[in-house]
Amino acid sequence: MEIRIVVAASEDNFIGIDNQLPWHLPEDLRFFKKMTSGMPVVMGKNTWLSLGRALPNRLNVVISSSLNNLPEGVLIFDSLENAIAHLKSEGNETISIIGGGQIYKAALPFTDVVYLTRIHTILRNGTAAFPPLSENEWKLTWEEPHTADEKNKFDYTFQKWERI
Ligand SMILES: NC(=O)c1ccc[n+]([C@@H]2O[C@H](COP(=O)([O-])OP(=O)(O)OC[C@H]3O[C@@H](n4cnc5c(N)ncnc54)[C@H](OP(=O)(O)O)[C@@H]3O)[C@@H](O)[C@H]2O)c1
Repeated sequence: MEIRIVVAASEDNFIGIDNQLPWHLPEDLRFFKKMTSGMPVVMGKNTWLSLGRALPNRLNVVISSSLNNLPEGVLIFDSLENAIAHLKSEGNETISIIGGGQIYKAALPFTDVVYLTRIHTILRNGTAAFPPLSENEWKLTWEEPHTADEKNKFDYTFQKWERI
């Protein structure tokens, strides 16, 4: 089973401020949808609360030891390891880890591929971060730069990083 991370991070590796996304970039949301549709998406409690609803056309899996009363169809596990073991036993070919900071950090050691949207801005005041990808362990195998426009206020680059 391929484990992929899908994440958008600033130049200084921030991914969130006060339990929200720091930016509104419709093109990145489109890319996120393309990368995750039709497969299970695994997220931490804070990301689930921040989204406020299940993402459509995907099995939503939440990692939490304190939440209950999730909507029907949303799975909850008390650890990332248990969630991954379950999804593997169900025969999934690919799953996406979709945040936030705590879950990315816990999942990175057993992740195969990272789809990183680098947002070309420096935040400084972020409250959730993505761990830096070590060049000894990760290789950039694809990237596609985009410039800001009326709807997407920052320059951004889609990148694919694969474990060496
Ligand atoms: N830019 C992006 O691509 C992106 C993507 C997603 C989220 N975000 C942002 O990230 C921020 C949220 O991230 P966060 O780090 O605060 O929270 P998070 O990772 O979404 O959730 C953390 C919670 O998940 C549970 N959890 C996490 N790791 C666990 C583990 N290894 N085992 C068991 N349970 C675990 C715990 O809940 P319990 O206490 O209930 O056990 C923990 O309090 C928000 O600002 C959000 O907007 C950004």
